[in-house]
Amino acid sequence: MLKQIKETVDFLAPKINQKPEVGIVLGSGLGGLVNEIEIEHEFHYSDIPHFPVSTVEGHSGKLIFGKLAGKNVVTMQGRFHYYEGYTLQQVTYPIRIMQQLGIKNLTLSNASGGVNPTYQIGDLMILDDHINLLPANPLTGLNLNDFGPRFPDMSEPYDKKLIDIASQVAKKNSFRCHVGVYAAVSGPCFETRAEYKYIRTIGADTVGMSTVPEVIVARHMSIPCFAMSIITDLGGMEEVQTVSHEEVLQVANEAEGRMTTIFKEVISKM
Ligand code: HPA
Repeated sequence: MLKQIKETVDFLAPKINQKPEVGIVLGSGLGGLVNEIEIEHEFHYSDIPHFPVSTVEGHSGKLIFGKLAGKNVVTMQGRFHYYEGYTLQQVTYPIRIMQQLGIKNLTLSNASGGVNPTYQIGDLMILDDHINLLPANPLTGLNLNDFGPRFPDMSEPYDKKLIDIASQVAKKNSFRCHVGVYAAVSGPCFETRAEYKYIRTIGADTVGMSTVPEVIVARHMSIPCFAMSIITDLGGMEEVQTVSHEEVLQVANEAEGRMTTIFKEVISKM
């Protein structure tokens, strides 16, 4: 893995003229933040040595370098998921690359299902903790000692200061926005009614199929993280509700502007 990381960095570093300070990972239907970036360089994942290639509709698959909110940023437009068949080491490979290129903070977005009964479709949630229900962890195997410790601390997976800034921005703009716990599952099925109920019972407010592997790897490298969810559907409520990928994308697109407002202000203060 170290040799591959070096080859990827050796490919990218000479082609970009600014060191990125902030890494951004954009989730399902949330690629529109890219329109706000002053783009300097972009690379299709398929052109980057050792990068996995994204396979899901709504994830276009580009690594974009540019300026946003006065910061040099590197953005993944489209992420990798466990349900696509990648290992979690592959899913999180781009986070290792971003760290090698110089990022000091990581910002992530996702679409998720609300299991907290007070949540509504279209609400936003700032993550302040997570539960990893994936059947794996990206740090299994030989530890990369140059990147971080064998047993990393996870007592503050999401940076408190950034959570406070984001909460204030949401309040100022009167956005419906919660602070809560995200459970990561493998997918690709959405949950059964019993599974949604279980996820609520163990202490989560939302459930989704991403973000947690990237945050684990970023925290392994002591990078502060900030993440937000758009609630695209509700699970485990009294009436039976169906959910489809199309609905998830549609709600995510509608809420994107609000999330972009928060992201930009948080990034400007990083
Ligand atoms: N479950 C899992 N992942 C999701 C959901 C959900 O209800 N909504 C969006 N991503």
